[in-house]
Amino acid sequence: MSRMLRFFIFPVVALFLAGCADEHVAAGKKTFSRYCSPCHGTGGAGDGYNAVNLDPGPRDLTDSKEVYMSKLSNDEIYTVIHDGGIGVDLSPLMPVWGNVFSEEEIWSLVAYIRTLHPYEGKPVVFAEVKEGDNAKVKESERPKVPQISENEFNSGMSQVTLDTLDGRIAEGEEFFSDLGCIACHRIEGKGGTLGPDLTRAGFMLQPQFIYRWIRNPQGFIPKTRMPNLGLTEEEAISVTLYLSTLGRAATAPPLVVAPEPVLEAEGVSGEATGLETTTEPGTEPATEPAEKVS
Ligand code: HEC
Ligand code: HEC
Repeated sequence: MSRMLRFFIFPVVALFLAGCADEHVAAGKKTFSRYCSPCHGTGGAGDGYNAVNLDPGPRDLTDSKEVYMSKLSNDEIYTVIHDGGIGVDLSPLMPVWGNVFSEEEIWSLVAYIRTLHPYEGKPVVFAEVKEGDNAKVKESERPKVPQISENEFNSGMSQVTLDTLDGRIAEGEEFFSDLGCIACHRIEGKGGTLGPDLTRAGFMLQPQFIYRWIRNPQGFIPKTRMPNLGLTEEEAISVTLYLSTLGRAATAPPLVVAPEPVLEAEGVSGEATGLETTTEPGTEPATEPAEKVS
């Protein structure tokens, strides 16, 4: 359950820029129609075009068949949007949005969702921020994820050996379901249709691109509908390895190569390197050329 802890951030009281609640409701509606309606439907009834691919289906936010949403507190709604289904023991098919939206945007979503079902409890309060109170204004910025470097990918890949490769690929396949990627992406006919079909990802995409994209989609396309699900470096490497096997061409270079055989250093600059060893049969060479040569 460490994942739950990782995502659990208790919502602070919404204290944001002045402006009437209607403006926040309007802003929430706009965000909802771009990012949420493919699953929840334009009116929030749980009937978006991607809903048929999901089990459990997206929650009907209008309470048309059962009284559910109106019993949740504002904080509970905030938390499930921020931490995703995975963060509150619901289905991971409800994505994590806390790495993408600002607090203000998420509270605006809560305020909008409240207009979709009968509700007479506490309203979401958007208090006025005093002039010059930068700390508060800052809180309403979107979280910033640094660009993911080529080095980070390379160092993650350097941990993968021929012995561990198959295990990492299998783990990546599990993560793809357990972290909710499958809610939006289809592989061999299974999964959602909000994002591109990944059946041939290993043929179409470079591993390094896959890794850097899934760790920070907004770093490539700021308004992409793909959320940053907060994958760790290790999770992202495993998922990348898995996707890289899909439809991979037989002629493509291997994902991981065996280390160079030892006893190779001689002749590096045409001189004797002193690395030729006089090993007895069955014993290892005494030196590691890779280290001596550089
Ligand atoms: C990929 C599909 C998908 C997208 C996109 C999506 N949701 Fe969901 N959502 C779900 C599913 C599936 C559930 C039901 C989870 C369960 O009951 O286990 C759900 C449940 C919910 C719930 C009810 C949580 C509860 O406590 O029962 C809320 C609120 C919600 N989503 C809000 C949003 C908002 C806001 C957005 C957009 C920022 C959004 N969802 C985007 C699939 C999605
Ligand atoms: C809420 C839906 C959603 C979820 C969840 C999601 N994606 Fe995506 N993904 C998209 C969309 C939409 C795009 C297309 C990017 C764009 O054009 O904005 C995309 C693009 C991609 C691409 C690039 C595909 C290409 O052809 O360029 C990869 C790889 C990918 N996603 C992997 C993942 C993985 C791995 C996960 C889980 C960690 C995941 N996605 C979760 C919606 C989603």
